Amino acid sequence: MSCIITPSLFDFSLPNALFLPLVGIIAAIFLRKTLSPSFKMSVGPIHTSGPCHLAPTAGRDFAKALEASGKHIACIYGSQTGTAEDLALTLAKECKSRFGESSLVADPDNYDFDTLDEIPKDKVLIFVVATHGEGEPTENAADFMEFLNEPSFSSGATTLDNLHYIIFALGNRTYEHFCAVGRQLDAKLTALGAKRLGALGEGDADKSTEEDYLAWKAGMFQALRQHLALEEGRAVDQPDFEIDELPNADISSVYLGELSRGALLPSSELSGPKNPHLAPLLSSRELYAAGERNCVFAEFGIKNSGMHYEAGDHLGIWPMNPNEEVERLISVLGFDQRRHAVIDMVPLDPALAKVPFPTPTTMDAIFRHYLDINATVSRQTCAALARWAPEESEARRRLVRWGSDKGAFHTEVAQHHLKLSELIMYANNEGVPSQRAPWSIPFDRLVSLVPRLQPRYYSISSSPRLFPDSIHVTAVVLKYSRESLGRTAHTTSETFVYGTTTNYLLGLTSKVEMEAPQQLRSTKDTAEARLPTYNMAGPRDKYLGGDGLFRVPIHVRKSTFRLPTSPTVPVIMVGPGTGVAPFRGFIQDRVALARAVKKTEGPKALKAWGDILLYFGCRAPDIDYLYSDEWQEYAKELDGKFKVYTAFSRVLGKDKVYVQQLLSGHREMVRKAIVDDGGYVYICGDAKGMAKSVEDVLRNIVGDGQDGEAELQLLKKKKRLQLDVW
Ligand SMILES: Cc1cc2nc3c(=O)[nH]c(=O)nc-3n(C[C@H](O)[C@H](O)[C@H](O)COP(=O)(O)OP(=O)(O)OC[C@H]3O[C@@H](n4cnc5c(N)ncnc54)[C@H](O)[C@@H]3O)c2cc1C
Ligand SMILES: NC(=O)c1ccc[n+]([C@@H]2O[C@H](COP(=O)([O-])OP(=O)(O)OC[C@H]3O[C@@H](n4cnc5c(N)ncnc54)[C@H](OP(=O)(O)O)[C@@H]3O)[C@@H](O)[C@H]2O)c1
Ligand SMILES: Cc1cc2nc3c(=O)[nH]c(=O)nc-3n(C[C@H](O)[C@H](O)[C@H](O)COP(=O)(O)O)c2cc1C
Repeated sequence: MSCIITPSLFDFSLPNALFLPLVGIIAAIFLRKTLSPSFKMSVGPIHTSGPCHLAPTAGRDFAKALEASGKHIACIYGSQTGTAEDLALTLAKECKSRFGESSLVADPDNYDFDTLDEIPKDKVLIFVVATHGEGEPTENAADFMEFLNEPSFSSGATTLDNLHYIIFALGNRTYEHFCAVGRQLDAKLTALGAKRLGALGEGDADKSTEEDYLAWKAGMFQALRQHLALEEGRAVDQPDFEIDELPNADISSVYLGELSRGALLPSSELSGPKNPHLAPLLSSRELYAAGERNCVFAEFGIKNSGMHYEAGDHLGIWPMNPNEEVERLISVLGFDQRRHAVIDMVPLDPALAKVPFPTPTTMDAIFRHYLDINATVSRQTCAALARWAPEESEARRRLVRWGSDKGAFHTEVAQHHLKLSELIMYANNEGVPSQRAPWSIPFDRLVSLVPRLQPRYYSISSSPRLFPDSIHVTAVVLKYSRESLGRTAHTTSETFVYGTTTNYLLGLTSKVEMEAPQQLRSTKDTAEARLPTYNMAGPRDKYLGGDGLFRVPIHVRKSTFRLPTSPTVPVIMVGPGTGVAPFRGFIQDRVALARAVKKTEGPKALKAWGDILLYFGCRAPDIDYLYSDEWQEYAKELDGKFKVYTAFSRVLGKDKVYVQQLLSGHREMVRKAIVDDGGYVYICGDAKGMAKSVEDVLRNIVGDGQDGEAELQLLKKKKRLQLDVW
């Protein structure tokens, strides 16, 4: 049974004290009626393994699993931050809605592929794969890609003559190895004799992966239709989930925002991307001395957590949505009275749709902790919402236009960064508060449409050698103005867009600093800004520890960004702005080593050490010069081996200086360190502008004034030039 939650209220003046309760009561009665058959249910077994992936039921043999599923199409995703996974699901759903064909949506990590050669001609594998690192596969696709390097099929076959496949590669043209994994996968499969249907799709996140996908999919569906002799129009519109209300639920078994299934079960699961650890925020503070921006230093305790890290790793931080956005969406959808009702969700086709969070749960928890309602909506969401708006209404006309007209979507929705709640309000009227006839959107469709709230990653700014019990991050707070994009009356009364995670961290910092004498600089926010607020105590107040410290869900993601083991090798680190984050960890690593060797070898122990050079850039020394005091201390401890070179870009009356100009000015020293002394170079921070310009200068330096592309590539191959850019 699919549940229609209704009615919705489209009113810009929130909360509307008189009207909302009435609508809520109507909604409650309606919902009860809609859900009445399941009222007698109690909480049954808990579904799903959390916000992540279901284990396959037919074992790890992929060919067998596909055969057992009875499906002709498998959508296999390689995804790190969820985009490819969402796209694979979208694609699978479109196969169903166009052709009535259900697909197996598969995480390659859950399968073995040595029976790939046994997949018959009447099946098609659709790969949706992202590239990460420096042209590397995502964690969940790494083993599969490795297997294809030297495949040994269990039947003894050496080719994949029967296999038919489709690929959509996700990437970002800002990176050197654009869509490298999708391209490699295509080349490997072709070399093995497999046949690609349609063109190789490539999505560029720097512009719009969604638009690339939309432009590619027509040809792909045509090829798929021909190959499998599918008929269009056989489809019926079906929900993904059955939703039941559980009025007698035992609340202790209800997920109120807990991020993994294990969180309510006796579980010894280690922390990781499927099971974040609730870490106490030991300290946090504002790092910028002045200016309009904020940058948060946060220190998370990991003592007795079983978590380990190395300098250079990344920390995944799991945000929650701001109260204001949760309230507005619930209100716009007319869910006010039902927000805390316990609901269970079961996928109608488990191979096609997974419940993307642990259940049973509540709508409040879903909107606050599990779905990314704070992001700009996609064009496909507009198209999907259109069918729920009343026929012949202006709302439907607008949604259809935004869904089908790329230009209209860009200028009227994307440019204004409209969130889901804002989109629905805007679709319904021109922004004038009104009490127009509400329309309803089935709750299960919303869950299918809105992506999951994903952890954000931060380059760890500490070393376990100095801080074994804590992990530090350096996070610049994201706040950008809508006005600069041409705010118009219809969009929203809000001038700024706030990043979800960094403003959560800023909010925590302001709570922590409330007792401290110095005032948090966020008070310098302009009068127009209304900083978002968060339910920092978390579900069941679990984020507020008995020790008075706030907890934040985190996990460590290993990286390959590493210092050379020998301290005699020179090191050049280039990290303007928050790009300096991992280098604080690197330098602390060397400080810990220096302390240890000085103890055993005496005060001259660092004599043979190579130079450790940090190229740092920021706006001005008195505004955003991160960790300037610490560098002086570390330089002393490292006997002058550690030097910082600064490039200031906004000092009144002075020319702008960027780190690459400094490097260029130091070309002899830099060349000697890299070419003659076998030094290592690291670049961290902005991928788009800075990293490319720094590489250009390095190319010239290692090429001794000529194009040193070959030398640069060799350095990369030997891991002597490493990038951590985003
Ligand atoms: C490997 C890695 C390491 C990282 N390390 C760090 C680090 O050490 N420190 C750090 O501060 N950040 C770091 N980041 C970035 C970090 O992960 C987040 O992306 C960032 O903090 C924003 O998160 P948020 O939740 O606050 O914003 P979100 O709510 O995720 O919003 C971000 C989105 O807003 C949009 N956006 C951003 N700026 C603008 C703009 N000016 N105009 C229009 N739209 C815009 C973009 O669509 C962007 O995807 C790292 C990222 C990666 C991948
Ligand atoms: N993808 C993008 O389009 C984009 C753009 C900017 C930032 N970012 C993200 O924001 C992160 C952190 O930024 P932040 O706020 O910490 O840095 P920031 O404070 O904005 O910048 C740090 C310093 O780098 C300078 N800079 C700007 N462009 C540069 C370039 N092309 N080459 C070298 N230096 C440059 C800045 O100068 P100015 O005074 O000229 O700004 C400033 O002095 C980045 O690493 C990145 O993830 C992304
Ligand atoms: C740290 C990082 C490294 C990346 N490296 C590459 C790369 O080398 N080549 C590329 O084309 N895209 C690269 N990308 C872009 C991603 O492939 C792109 O954002 C994609 O949409 C992510 O998909 P996912 O969310 O499913 O992981 C990188 C992104 C990040 C955050």
